[in-house]
Amino acid sequence: MTFITFEGIEGSGKTTQIRLLMDWLRDRSDRVLLTREPGGTSIGEQIRAVLLNPINTEMTPEAEILLFSAARAQIVREIIRPRLKEGWIVICDRFADSTLAYQGYGHGLPLDDLLQITEFATGGLWPDLTIYLDLDVETGLRRKAATPEEWNRMEAQAIDFHKRVRRGYLQLAAQNPGRWLVLDATQSVAVIQAQIRARVRQLLGGKNADNTDENHA
Ligand code: TYD
Repeated sequence: MTFITFEGIEGSGKTTQIRLLMDWLRDRSDRVLLTREPGGTSIGEQIRAVLLNPINTEMTPEAEILLFSAARAQIVREIIRPRLKEGWIVICDRFADSTLAYQGYGHGLPLDDLLQITEFATGGLWPDLTIYLDLDVETGLRRKAATPEEWNRMEAQAIDFHKRVRRGYLQLAAQNPGRWLVLDATQSVAVIQAQIRARVRQLLGGKNADNTDENHA
């Protein structure tokens, strides 16, 4: 039972790295689940559509955090906890740290309140490992702009917002270095993936990890 989350600002390459890690993990176990936040359940996907719809410009930060938390409360109880109990490896594309970074450091909502809401939503579940792909904001947004269809309400926020989010992530990681793996996202895809696999292999205690194939990432 292992719970791993990925975090990063827009354009950090999370999706590519998650896909490569999933390929590697699925070769080793048939009990690996990938899910994402906000979303991952039927209710969560409906909430996601409200959160990311560019027409919802009047959404207050307080409403936003409660919607993210509602989606999280659902996925934790419907999917994540039951699978972890059955011994699965669960990978989540974003989790509670996104709320602390985006709504806390980004929007400036009080971190103590956010932690309380988050603990309520998750029932106190935190990841065993959080992989954070660190990238400067300008590079990240430039990468994203190459695919304008992916532009959404969140990404349209001011560049300063994203800078605060990045600083927030780095602070969160510094406060809990045992849980966080901070990686330089300007490195090549293969190098980053090798670093991720090395750490995940360590976390899984070397189980089923004889075939080291990082170079084929
Ligand atoms: P998504 O399209 O999934 O972005 P990405 O590919 O970067 O993960 O959109 C999720 C957006 O929601 C992203 O901008 C981060 C933001 N977010 C929050 O602000 N708070 C949260 O708690 C979560 C989970 C996401």
